[in-house]
Amino acid sequence: MKKKRKPNYKLRRTIAKIIIALLIIVPLVIIFKTKIINAPLYIKYHKNTEVLNALFDSKFTREEVKEFMPKLKEKGINSYTDDYIISLSNKGYKPSTIEYILLNFKMGDTKYLINTKYDEDVEKMIVNKLFDYSKYDRYINARSDDEDIDRTILRVTLDIDKDNYTDTVEIEDPNSLTTFINKHRYVNEDYVPDDLVDMSDDYANNYYGQLQLRSEAYEQFKKMVDDANKEDLEIYADTTYRSFKSQKSIYNNYVYENGYDKASLYAARAGFSEHELGTAIDISNGYLIEKGDPEYNWLMQYAYKYGFIFRYTEDNIDLTGYAAEPWHIRYVGVEVATKMHKENLTFEEYWIKYEYKKEAK
Ligand code: DAL
Ligand code: ZN
Repeated sequence: MKKKRKPNYKLRRTIAKIIIALLIIVPLVIIFKTKIINAPLYIKYHKNTEVLNALFDSKFTREEVKEFMPKLKEKGINSYTDDYIISLSNKGYKPSTIEYILLNFKMGDTKYLINTKYDEDVEKMIVNKLFDYSKYDRYINARSDDEDIDRTILRVTLDIDKDNYTDTVEIEDPNSLTTFINKHRYVNEDYVPDDLVDMSDDYANNYYGQLQLRSEAYEQFKKMVDDANKEDLEIYADTTYRSFKSQKSIYNNYVYENGYDKASLYAARAGFSEHELGTAIDISNGYLIEKGDPEYNWLMQYAYKYGFIFRYTEDNIDLTGYAAEPWHIRYVGVEVATKMHKENLTFEEYWIKYEYKKEAK
């Protein structure tokens, strides 16, 4: 008779123990997967476990969390931080946007955002460095379908969405070579640059009256014209500095002949013209130069080397509020003109990027 084999109880017990262990471990691993994988981060930021959980639940990658946490700690973590992260993520904001909001927004603005309907355009808007909540309604009103939202923000920052010559501010330092003047920024009626010089007939059409420029602009203009002459190009100044009084009569004349709306496209109201700064020149080659003229092409290529820029071009009408003026150049200094050239910036863009002071958030 065959002897019945004794069951291997030891083996069975071991298998049972393993199964029980797995039944306990596997769910734990599933539940704490993120913490286990990111153990070093959880150890490093053991006081901010809730924030780490919120970030990982909001689809931040480990690398993003690693980069973000030190910045967030520096900005300040409070008991709302994790809730904000979760709420923003639930609304639909991307990790990069959530990061931007937490690092740059005031608490009140973040709360407001959490209570506002999510909109893809708003997500794009709020990461713009110029974004300002107090101007939110203006962005929405100024927004047009075929315009990039960043451009809308730029226009609103420049106040170009407002009615012409409303909410105006007086320019504090009109003597600066980079003074920015537009339909909302003016120079005092009594301002006269103190370094105006008379221009010689070799460089200016003095037929209707002696033309004047600020001295540095004039020196550079002469150099530029001399070099253009070497290329057989005829360039001279047709209009330069205008007093408040003469700008007034020019503008009023335009209004009289064309009506207010059209006039405001072609001429500035007195106080609001670059010509009053003594650094603007309307260039002539017998007639005011036009796009495509050899003088225009030459200036487009070389004017910045002498410190001059074109001020009113076709592709920045929406930023300046003036029709294109291919003949109107402005002296800003060689350094600034070169920077604008290299970075392909219009003067509005340059001013916003380098000189405009946004109110602190
Ligand atoms: N034509 C320019 C805009 C001016 O009047 O200053
Ligand atoms: Zn002009």
